[in-house]
Amino acid sequence: MSPKKFHLGWFVGFVANDFTGPFSPPDEPWDGKFYVEMAQSLERAGFDYMMFEDTVSVPDAYGRSFDTYLKHALWAPKHDPVPLAAVIAAATSRLGIIATMSTAFYPPYMLARTVATVDHIAKGRFGWNIVTSAQNQAALNFGMDKLPPHDKRYDIAHEYIDLVRELWNSWDADNIVRDRETGAYFAPGSVRAVDHDGEYFRSKGPLTTVRPPNGQPVFVQAGGSPKGRDFAAKYADSIVANPGSIEDMRKFRDDVRARAAAHGRNPDEIKILFIMMPVLGATTEEAVAANRRNITSDRAVENILAQFSFTTDIDFSQFPLDEVPPQDLTTDGEQSALEMFLQRGSGKTLRELAIDYLSPRVELVGTPDEVADRMGEIVDEVGGDGFLIYTGSNSLNRRFVAEVTEGLVPALQRRGRVRTEYGHEFLRDNLRAF
Ligand SMILES: Cc1cc2nc3c(=O)[nH]c(=O)nc-3n(C[C@H](O)[C@H](O)[C@H](O)COP(=O)(O)O)c2cc1C
Repeated sequence: MSPKKFHLGWFVGFVANDFTGPFSPPDEPWDGKFYVEMAQSLERAGFDYMMFEDTVSVPDAYGRSFDTYLKHALWAPKHDPVPLAAVIAAATSRLGIIATMSTAFYPPYMLARTVATVDHIAKGRFGWNIVTSAQNQAALNFGMDKLPPHDKRYDIAHEYIDLVRELWNSWDADNIVRDRETGAYFAPGSVRAVDHDGEYFRSKGPLTTVRPPNGQPVFVQAGGSPKGRDFAAKYADSIVANPGSIEDMRKFRDDVRARAAAHGRNPDEIKILFIMMPVLGATTEEAVAANRRNITSDRAVENILAQFSFTTDIDFSQFPLDEVPPQDLTTDGEQSALEMFLQRGSGKTLRELAIDYLSPRVELVGTPDEVADRMGEIVDEVGGDGFLIYTGSNSLNRRFVAEVTEGLVPALQRRGRVRTEYGHEFLRDNLRAF
């Protein structure tokens, strides 16, 4: 029996890349070239997509100041991924390009129009990572006092999706006739108003843009809560998730697939990619040593504490690194994340907790052949569907991209685990190919 094939994505932001390591790129990334060349490498390796995250605020939770975030270039600077996606689309021909846009901040009409425009430039290879946003600090940048509560954000997002779909559907498919004889550009009656008048949004329509090449762009989503999973199961072509243990991965995938079936969808239409940070070396020892260096450096520890301060709104800079933090910390932010991090009662110091948190339960550390074998085993145990490669922005450089695209991917290809060439032009078709 031939081995089960799986999909590959790469998770990145339009952010500062590695600027301190021995192999840090000499050039600034803000003209987009670094990411365009990276996209070309991913396309050569047959990746399904390159996915750009996005958030829209400069945090100040750690030390109640912007300084630590800006020092490490964490969350900021962060440039808008949508124009970059268009530039990447023009420099590639098969790779999917996903950009994150929030239903909390984009007016639906504007999002529908921008997404349709980029999807045409990409000839059906663009995708929208649908987020509902979780940072009140971002809400302040858009004239709101705070975000709506968690579950309501998803209720709003459901109507949002209905509306943007109505807008894309306000143009019929293949309605451009460009008839030289009659001088007609499009078929009469093939563009209509939508007259949407809902609980949260009103829009008359039609959209100004031609219908997206594939009817609608690829939808990506990352919901973890029951509301989030249900939302993803209803709409997503691909779901990205944090793995936890192999058992957690299997449960998550089974749950989302069951929810998709309950929505009347074929669960195989949804590809679930789990985030993984491979650490590769020419020998096992080299990879293990590199992994240890990655997770124990002062820089990595400060990074993770600053990140945690942001998501929990607890200022971790106030606690000494080599002492046990207070055991009674609580948050109105991400509660499950705080529980996992704190390991209450373990007696571990803050530094030890940070290092534990940086050590994923499912590791991919070794030679390309060893990691390729491990990835195959994981997919067989979980049932599918692939991996979203990631490295912290502080360690993203051309050497790491090459280790994956020139070492790991060929090892996966030799095992028949990933594609050796693209079968289709549209991203959705490539995702559904296996
Ligand atoms: C792989 C991954 C990527 C994500 N990317 C973003 C992002 O770019 N912007 C954002 O605001 N949230 C992002 N999130 C957060 C999710 O959109 C979502 O808020 C989070 O997973 C919590 O989901 P829940 O509210 O359903 O529990 C991401 C989450 C994951 C797991």
